[in-house]
Amino acid sequence: MYRAAVITVSDTCSRGEAEDISGTRLAQAASEIPAAVEMKLIVPDEKDQIAALLREGVDKKLDFIFTTGGTGIGPRDVTPEATREVLEKEIPGIGELLRLESLKFTKMAALSRGTAGIAGKTLIINLPGSPKAVVECMQILMPVLRHAPDMLAGKKH
Ligand code: MTE
Repeated sequence: MYRAAVITVSDTCSRGEAEDISGTRLAQAASEIPAAVEMKLIVPDEKDQIAALLREGVDKKLDFIFTTGGTGIGPRDVTPEATREVLEKEIPGIGELLRLESLKFTKMAALSRGTAGIAGKTLIINLPGSPKAVVECMQILMPVLRHAPDMLAGKKH
C-alpha cells in the first residue's frame, strides 16, 4: 500500500464557500492505486503556501502528492510554479500525457499547465481543478502510478 497526500488548491474552497468535491474524488481515485491518503488539505492559490504543503509531504516521504486546481491561466493560478519550486527532477511526460489524453474529452485541456516530478522519494502530480477532470486524469494516470514507485526505488522493469 502506497502513501499519498491530496492537496486542493482553491481560494473558494479554502474560504469554505465551495465544497471540495475534487479533493474527495481524488482521494477516492488514489485509494484505487492503492494508496492510503495520509494528508488531505485545502490551500488558497498562494504559491508559498502551496510549496510549503508540498515540502511537508516530501518530508513525510510520501509516495505521491496529488494537487487539484490552479493549473489554468487565471490570474491566481500558480500551482505549477509552486510545484517547480519544490521539484528536484521534472517529469514533463506526465503533463504531456494528461494533456494529450484529456484533449479527447475537451479541447480546454490545452489550457491546463500542470506539471509533475520528483522531490526526495515523492512523486508530485498536478491535476486540473474540476471533479470531472480529476476522475478522467486519474484514470489516464493509473498504469503510470502503479509503475512509477518501483522505478523511483531503482527496481528493474
Ligand atoms: N482535463 C480533463 N481531463 N477534463 C476536463 O474537464 N478541464 C480543462 C483542463 N483540463 C478538463 C481538463 C479546463 S476547462 C481548464 S480551464 C484547465 O484544465 C485548467 O483547470 P484548473 O485551472 O482548474 O486547474
